[in-house]
Amino acid sequence: MKYKLLGNTGVKVSQLCFGTMSFGDSADVATSTAMFNRCREVGINFFDCANVYAGGRSEEILGDLIADCRDEVVITSKVFFRTGDDINAGGGSRRHIQRAVEDSLRRLKTDYIDIYFLHSFDVNTPIIETLRVLDDLVKAGKILYPAASNYAAWQVAKALGISAKEGLARFACIQPMYNLAKRQAEVEILPMAQSENIGVIPYSPLGGGLLTGKYGTQRRPDAGRLMENSMYQTRYGPAIYYEVAERFTNFARERDLNPVSLAVAWAGTHPAVTAPIIGARNLDQLAGSLQAIDIDMTPELRAEISALSPEPPPATDRLEEK
Ligand SMILES: NC(=O)c1ccc[n+]([C@@H]2O[C@H](COP(=O)([O-])OP(=O)(O)OC[C@H]3O[C@@H](n4cnc5c(N)ncnc54)[C@H](OP(=O)(O)O)[C@@H]3O)[C@@H](O)[C@H]2O)c1
Repeated sequence: MKYKLLGNTGVKVSQLCFGTMSFGDSADVATSTAMFNRCREVGINFFDCANVYAGGRSEEILGDLIADCRDEVVITSKVFFRTGDDINAGGGSRRHIQRAVEDSLRRLKTDYIDIYFLHSFDVNTPIIETLRVLDDLVKAGKILYPAASNYAAWQVAKALGISAKEGLARFACIQPMYNLAKRQAEVEILPMAQSENIGVIPYSPLGGGLLTGKYGTQRRPDAGRLMENSMYQTRYGPAIYYEVAERFTNFARERDLNPVSLAVAWAGTHPAVTAPIIGARNLDQLAGSLQAIDIDMTPELRAEISALSPEPPPATDRLEEK
């Protein structure tokens, strides 16, 4: 396992981050524990979580697992999505974040969260309010670094400008969606992160299962997230994604490579990326993603794989100047 500096912080994180969205959901406590231990064995020190995963259960399970190694792991959590029926139980307000961070700390059984993500941009809360409460939480030692997930590049850039002007803790990391089927981040988000030296931990390197080899233009598994979860069915609805999956799976098989490992390695080797967040529901699934670190992803191999999916048009629309 290699370790990298997270953006312009002095924190070293493993080249793979393990996502705990399955904890308490598709993975019970025993399976979650086995996956966590396997990640630790291979040297992963970086674990992604969120307050809404399994209704808070994921944080509780992760909290139990880190109890005897808290100082050796870098953990994240997130705030924004609704945690209850109350009208204010969500968003980026001081009122909600202050409540939510205390709830997360209690479930995680820790007194600090290393990286605290805004899970989505809040159009209703002035960004200065959100940045101020995050800065206060940094000063109080409850979070170490503020971060943003699912933000457009301009939203991050706007926040960075305000943080600099007001002397507030800046976003240290972003968490965009990024995989061979979903490459929008290449247009503005990843170049922005490189320019600003922000850590990047992209999620869904397998497209939620799309790129694992079990999906194709005519092929579907009996069960799986894209078969069962309507949010993911919408996200990966267009036929083009299944065409990419088909081409990619064939490409991997022709070279005797596991598509799971290859897809994670592809996402992890964009020059802006610090560590892709891998996801699994059991140890068997996890094995393929862990083997990504053994793939020799040369620039030529990466370019060949990239050519299997449509490249998103440039932000300026001046195709002739590419
Ligand atoms: N910030 C955000 O908004 C956001 C959103 C999503 C995820 N995340 C984070 O990123 C992490 C990873 O995201 P993700 O779960 O979407 O990642 P992913 O790697 O794209 O998808 C993981 C899923 O693919 C399938 N899979 C994995 N390995 C497999 C294998 N060897 N063979 C067959 N199927 C396999 C499993 O789903 P099935 O068995 O159901 O097919 C598994 O749950 C999450 O845990 C979470 O921490 C963040």
